[in-house]
Amino acid sequence: MRKKEFNPDLLADEYNNRSPAAVIKLAFENFEDIAISFSGAEDVVLVDLATKINPDVRVFSLDTGRLHAETYRFIEKVRTHYNIPLELLSPDTITLQDLVRSKGLYSFYEDGHKECCNIRKVIPLRRHLSNLDAWITGQRKDQSLDTRKKVTVIEKDAAFSDKDKTIYKFNPLANWTSIEVWEYIRSNEIPFNPLHEQGYKSIGCEPCTRPILPNQHEREGRWWWEESTQKECGLHLPNNK
Ligand code: ADX
Ligand code: SF4
Repeated sequence: MRKKEFNPDLLADEYNNRSPAAVIKLAFENFEDIAISFSGAEDVVLVDLATKINPDVRVFSLDTGRLHAETYRFIEKVRTHYNIPLELLSPDTITLQDLVRSKGLYSFYEDGHKECCNIRKVIPLRRHLSNLDAWITGQRKDQSLDTRKKVTVIEKDAAFSDKDKTIYKFNPLANWTSIEVWEYIRSNEIPFNPLHEQGYKSIGCEPCTRPILPNQHEREGRWWWEESTQKECGLHLPNNK
């Protein structure tokens, strides 16, 4: 339930220079049915900040079935460390079986990641958002010089809103750099995914993520066989205009 009238554009301007904690606080003040979308990577910062403000925060992860073993273990670590009922969202069994039966387990290397991401991530997210009014993500501008360069701290979610319902999206880390995220993780001694110690910077599904070399941009480790302008899986619309 939305608690009061909410103007995302005005608030995005007002909160653009405020701290991630201030943005999360605003989110909780305005929405009861709201949850953090946690990927199992450095967006653990969101969980840390949010549980300090609201220990009962709802957190979910999209369990694509293709995450690294390290990521599954890390998700469980976060569940116990913060003592939160972290929800894992699974893809629809029949739709997934149909895809794998007809195209196998690695069709994305042949015809792109959109179809698999849609089944394993976007449809489960859409289903979950139908019970929420807003969600909180770890998107940052510096994660993609192509598709995320204009991410705002608060937005109307154009991908998941429809004529019957508006979904709002909070991106509290939008203006933080990777350096700031890691300063936070280290100075607060919060748990992190051990893949980060093995050269992985951005972490998604195992077959579609690889470590990067020095001075490569983090997005180059994701869907490396595709153009940089295609590197969104459907959870987030490109924010580059
Ligand atoms: S992705 O769209 O390319 O996969 P990315 O890995 O950069 O996204 O993560 C950006 C934000 O999207 C995360 O901080 C998180 O909020 C959300 N997200 C991405 N993957 C997942 C996931 N598997 N489960 C839940 N949220 C996710
Ligand atoms: Fe499928 Fe790769 Fe998308 Fe994961 S990132 S859902 S494995 S295409």
